Amino acid sequence: MISLTLTQHIHKESHKIILCNSVGELDKKLFLAHEYEYIINKISDNEEFIPVNQYSNWCIVQIIRTKEENYKTKEALRKAGCKLLKWLQDEKIESLGVIGKSIRNDLLLAYLEGIVLGSYNFIKYKRNSEKQLILPTEINVCSSAMRRVDILQFEAICKGVFIARDITNEPVSHMNAVQLSKRIKKLGNESGFSVEILEKRQIETLKMGGLLAVNKGSIDPPTFTIMEWKSENSVNSKPIVFAGKGVVYDTGGLDLKTSGLDYMKSDKGGASTVIGLLYAVALAKLPVHIIGLIPATDNRPGGNAFAPGDVIKMANGTTVENMNSDAEGRFILADALTYAQKYDPELVFDVATLTGSALRTVGHQALVVMGNTQREIIDKLTESGNNVYERIVELPLWDEYNELLKSDIADIKNIGGEYASAIVAGKFLEHFTDYQWIHIDIAPMGYLHKSDSYRGKGGTGYGVRLLFDFINQHINK
Ligand code: BES
Ligand code: ZN
Ligand code: ZN
Repeated sequence: MISLTLTQHIHKESHKIILCNSVGELDKKLFLAHEYEYIINKISDNEEFIPVNQYSNWCIVQIIRTKEENYKTKEALRKAGCKLLKWLQDEKIESLGVIGKSIRNDLLLAYLEGIVLGSYNFIKYKRNSEKQLILPTEINVCSSAMRRVDILQFEAICKGVFIARDITNEPVSHMNAVQLSKRIKKLGNESGFSVEILEKRQIETLKMGGLLAVNKGSIDPPTFTIMEWKSENSVNSKPIVFAGKGVVYDTGGLDLKTSGLDYMKSDKGGASTVIGLLYAVALAKLPVHIIGLIPATDNRPGGNAFAPGDVIKMANGTTVENMNSDAEGRFILADALTYAQKYDPELVFDVATLTGSALRTVGHQALVVMGNTQREIIDKLTESGNNVYERIVELPLWDEYNELLKSDIADIKNIGGEYASAIVAGKFLEHFTDYQWIHIDIAPMGYLHKSDSYRGKGGTGYGVRLLFDFINQHINK
């Protein structure tokens, strides 16, 4: 990742960018008369990104235009940061000074976020000769408002996002459930959260019938990984629990998918988010107590695969008639939600690439959310969503939808009919909760097929910044 350093002074001859709200803020002394005139002309032509070639170095002027709402200004700045990054890469610039002396901290951080998050790529499987040098490598930030802790927290969040993206992008050829749990262990050692890995035998003892059923068609065993970060000065006495869907590959099982198999390694996107979040929170040493739960397996139509028509007894004793083996995520998450009860949690989130229906509803623009918490909590999450521009859309969990889950032979079945299947999936999960709970369907955003500015292509790490911001709000309430 690009390294950031706070500095008082940027050397005259280094490449730099000056962020300002208007031309009046520009320090004239930095430019020759004709350069200054050139900048004034460009600004009056409504240009916002103005590179000036000063022979030994580039000095770029970036004008910030505030929008009617602050969060929209921040998003425009993230995109502008990503554009700058592409420009630096074209110019093969290794090191850059960012000067934002009159710029508010949140705006400057948004700009830096666009640069750093935009620089991610997943090229570990390319041979050395094909790996281009990733530029730039360092950024020196000159600001009067920013403190070192801001940079440390910023870096923790970006690292968490990169880890989430890496895990989503990892193909099943290199990351089955066991390998995923080992990766989590390593990340825990690096950042400071503790890790306990439950193996198949322990999963059997816990009677996690949902996770075991989905795993039946696989030759690799399932895992259930528990992460914990508990700061000595936690603000919450009961933990917040995050459960992430860890389907390391979703073929659809016996209801074999007819399309989309090429990217179904991304069905562990919910797990990626939760892992990236714990990593970031631990690295930033936030004063909270949080738990991450990752049920993991692949879903395949192998020898003994769970079949449509099967009845599955879940960890909490509920019997479920499986009507579609491609609706597998809810089976493994339900067992994780049952497990969450033992913590007497303050609040539980589950994060999952759960339904194509959520994607069809909002496209690649938002996360779909459902829950039974007080209004205030959903409002906070909405605010965080705008703040980091990982926006959420809430769908209802009305009682009437329960009709769709009625089974002739078991307590419930795992799918409803043709309609509202994102909601029905939420209703299914609700069945396994007896605490305050929010379900986040990240199928719309977990994986992008074409690049979208700083979000990049492939795994996006969506949800890490959202939930980090939510936790931060919770700490500062
Ligand atoms: N992993 C998929 C959901 C998905 C689809 C994620 C597209 C990302 C992109 C999930 O397991 C699934 O297949 N869901 C089915 C449920 C259906 C059978 C009720 C779906 O949404 O089609
Ligand atoms: Zn599926
Ligand atoms: Zn799935």
